[in-house]
Amino acid sequence: MIECSDCILVTGGAGFIGSNFVLDWLAAGLGPVVNLDKLTYAGNPANLTSIAQSAEYTFVQGDICDAELVTSLMQKYQPRAVIHFAAESHVDRSIAGPEAFLRTNINGTFTLLQAARAYYDALTKEGQGRFRFLHVSTDEVYGTLTPEAPAFHEETPYAPNSPYAASKASSDHLVRAWVHTYGLPAIITNCSNNYGPYQFPEKLIPLMIANALQGKSLPVYGDGQQVRDWLYVGDHASALRTVLERGRLGETYNVGGGNQRSNLEVVTTVCALLDELVPQSTFKPHLQLVKYVTDRPGHDRRYAIDARKLEGELGWRAQESFETGLRKTVEWYLGNAEWIENVTSGAYQQWMAQNYSGRGHKASEQRTTTEAGEGAR
Ligand code: NAD
Ligand code: DAU
Repeated sequence: MIECSDCILVTGGAGFIGSNFVLDWLAAGLGPVVNLDKLTYAGNPANLTSIAQSAEYTFVQGDICDAELVTSLMQKYQPRAVIHFAAESHVDRSIAGPEAFLRTNINGTFTLLQAARAYYDALTKEGQGRFRFLHVSTDEVYGTLTPEAPAFHEETPYAPNSPYAASKASSDHLVRAWVHTYGLPAIITNCSNNYGPYQFPEKLIPLMIANALQGKSLPVYGDGQQVRDWLYVGDHASALRTVLERGRLGETYNVGGGNQRSNLEVVTTVCALLDELVPQSTFKPHLQLVKYVTDRPGHDRRYAIDARKLEGELGWRAQESFETGLRKTVEWYLGNAEWIENVTSGAYQQWMAQNYSGRGHKASEQRTTTEAGEGAR
């Protein structure tokens, strides 16, 4: 068990970004980590096998909505920071069933804030000076952009469009209010789309890799011209470390890699990488597997992040380009077939059937493989 005054409490550390963050944190020797995770379908202890026995790591299975539990963890471990990742994170699931999103993302954040506030109030002056509550949020709170609109900046008005985005926006507002009213030393980060190792294959990039490897169709929503701004997950982890270390209290920092790509461009690049890295595949060219399906309701057309505040004020820079990061990612999935197999059974199959069976095939939006490479930037 960790004895720590120098530890951090991470929530949702068994998920995609949380586990990458925890692995990077411990690899950098930055101090002990206590990881509170409910282990929903998205939480996977296998992501953390390499550190499971470390004296620097403690795992607690539990719910951020459990006030008694989160209070007792803060008392017991006396963390110098809370890094709050835990959330329901998939937009399509929020459309199919919003309740869990409101519960975890709003009530869970509220519960954590209350516990952190009581914990902070009882700290010594020195302890208060060090303490941080880092709330990990999303660019989806800002809504959608037209093709020519400037990227989201920290002053862009909130305009969430999906139940997921609305729940995250609500949680951001709660954090803001706890700073303003109670003086909690919190910072919010709003990040663009992440990709990289350990991402659950319900999200675009790992889904396309997993399906293509099995010769299954690659479901592209609508016309595939929606634009996302992609960031390699390791760069998100380094941004969070930077904000934790040097960010100003009560501030918001937007995090993004300046990699706007249409979904069709992303799928095309994934397919080209698979053609190259799996030359013996009988499904080549993988792009032939693309299938246009009915669009996501309320689908945001474009996200783009202006990260100049984080870059200029705190000196952070993304290290991976989209090309280098995506190659690493595809290689990781190719080298970790067992990980994919383990997460794509049972409940995953039910979700795939529920999300995709009703969408049908949109023949009218079928593109040729040449056109598939062209996208709005
Ligand atoms: P994820 O779905 O992969 O992981 C979420 C983790 O939270 C899982 O381990 C899950 O078990 C845990 N969890 C869920 N409900 C919980 C509860 N009630 N109590 C305790 N643990 C619970 O999510 P992710 O993609 O790693 O995202 C992490 C955070 O980053 C989220 O807050 C998300 O909104 C934010 N974010 C994600 C992205 C992205 O592209 N994935 C981009 C910007 C911001
Ligand atoms: O922008 C940050 C957000 O990025 C995070 O806050 C969310 O947690 C994260 O899930 C992600 O949201 P998106 O909805 O953008 O990600 P997703 O991978 O689900 O979809 C990316 C794009 O690809 C989106 O335009 C929808 C499209 N898509 C997705 C799937 C799963 C498809 O065309 N086909 C698919 O099968």
